[in-house]
Amino acid sequence: MTSKKFKKNILCIGAGYVGGPTMTIIANKCPDYKVTVVDISKERIDAWNSDKLPIFEPGLLERVLSVRGKNLFFSTEIDLGINEADIIFVSVNTPTKMFGEGAGKAVDLQFIEQTARRIKNNSKTNKIVVEKSTLPVRAAEALATILHSGDNSVEFEILSNPEFMAEGTGVSDMENPDRILIGSRDTVSGLAARDILMDIYLHWVPKERLITTNLWSSELSKLVANAVLAQRISSINTIASLCEATEADVTEVSRAIGMDSRIGSKFLNAGPGFGGSCFRKDILNLVYLCEYYQLNEVAAFWEQVVSINDYQMERYVKRILQAMFNTLVGKKMAVFGFAFKPDTGDTRDAPAIYICKRLLEEKACLKITDPYALDNARNDLQSIEGKKEFIEDPYKAVEGVHAIALITEWSSYKKLDYRKIFEKMEKPAFIFDGRNCLDHQALYKIGFNVYPVGKPELSHL
Ligand SMILES: NC(=O)c1ccc[n+]([C@@H]2O[C@H](COP(=O)([O-])OP(=O)(O)OC[C@H]3O[C@@H](n4cnc5c(N)ncnc54)[C@H](O)[C@@H]3O)[C@@H](O)[C@H]2O)c1
Repeated sequence: MTSKKFKKNILCIGAGYVGGPTMTIIANKCPDYKVTVVDISKERIDAWNSDKLPIFEPGLLERVLSVRGKNLFFSTEIDLGINEADIIFVSVNTPTKMFGEGAGKAVDLQFIEQTARRIKNNSKTNKIVVEKSTLPVRAAEALATILHSGDNSVEFEILSNPEFMAEGTGVSDMENPDRILIGSRDTVSGLAARDILMDIYLHWVPKERLITTNLWSSELSKLVANAVLAQRISSINTIASLCEATEADVTEVSRAIGMDSRIGSKFLNAGPGFGGSCFRKDILNLVYLCEYYQLNEVAAFWEQVVSINDYQMERYVKRILQAMFNTLVGKKMAVFGFAFKPDTGDTRDAPAIYICKRLLEEKACLKITDPYALDNARNDLQSIEGKKEFIEDPYKAVEGVHAIALITEWSSYKKLDYRKIFEKMEKPAFIFDGRNCLDHQALYKIGFNVYPVGKPELSHL
């Protein structure tokens, strides 16, 4: 089905945070392949075809503009795309199931199943189907059963190729990946399909960074990677609470342990808790799988990573409440940052959602600022009662506030003129640096009461 001009036709189903950027990089690196990204959401596809992309990711717009209309296409013609494709990446969402069996833990596989049925119904030639979405271990088995059901003579070879890029650094992660993982069946056709997928990545990824495994190891590795990263954050956050009780300093502890090459320094920054669409979802999926296989102690171990995260978000709120004389009623507070991390507008499962809800419950009046996430913030908080404003300019957001709660460590917040900010605020002025990213001594000298995470407060009170 491949047109003469291109070596192969790649289709990606799901034009979200993963599908859009990964396919943009493949199209940039593989001019000999035609890459089409399809989605059921016309709004999303229209945005991908405009200059205001549906997601913010540094460097992404330039890369889209350099190949869009040449070998990268965004479309809602899903059935046509399936029919023409040689290789189909499935990158639809796999949220936590919120109903029935496994509610709150298992993955909701309805979008995956709908996609599989659509692939089956619209395929007239053999296809390689690549799991890009994060799936429970052995999902490929169910996918194969659906694809090969009925009287369709088309052959489908399923590969697992989980995505390890992190939002905010997605473009550089994909252009220079630590590794690319491909899981396949250990059969002639499985290995042949694996080699076809490897050919794509070999356009820019050194061979030694391509790892091949069996299907189940690949599916499981993605869940485990996210669980281990989140576990490091929860680990250091537990130590942050011990530091606050003992006058130790969590930044110093992190540095001291992180210089041990067996431990390493990454993901050891204490904060208000982890967020994003994947960590909680993927750990809970792992917990569900362990429970399914009756590994209850293992399930309890991983579930604790999530419980500590909930505890940490609540602890951040309690510290604000205690410092501000145990009442927030009618007090104005500026919230610096709503995205779950800097350099993205994504707010899915962001700690800011929980923290703002709790502050509103305490009847604080919030002035929320963020460079890219204000539209999402508005949506996330629309059903929550209470006084909230969304203000682009941080200097306007701080007018008349009693406190600043810094939740996302956007680099622009480090460069603000805090003397000017202090002058605009009510006194006593509080700052709760949830990311330990500001100069606390300098803030204290200006007159702020400074509350970092995991280190002693600097208070004039
Ligand atoms: N966001 C990340 O940083 C990240 C990183 C690695 C892996 N993942 C995994 O990748 C997958 C996708 O995540 P995402 O963040 O891109 O999700 P997303 O919600 O941003 O995008 C998913 C897209 O799939 C579309 N879709 C759903 N059902 C469809 C169907 N039947 N046909 C066509 N399109 C359909 C939706 O409209 C949506 O645009 C998930 O499994 C996630 O766990 C995400």
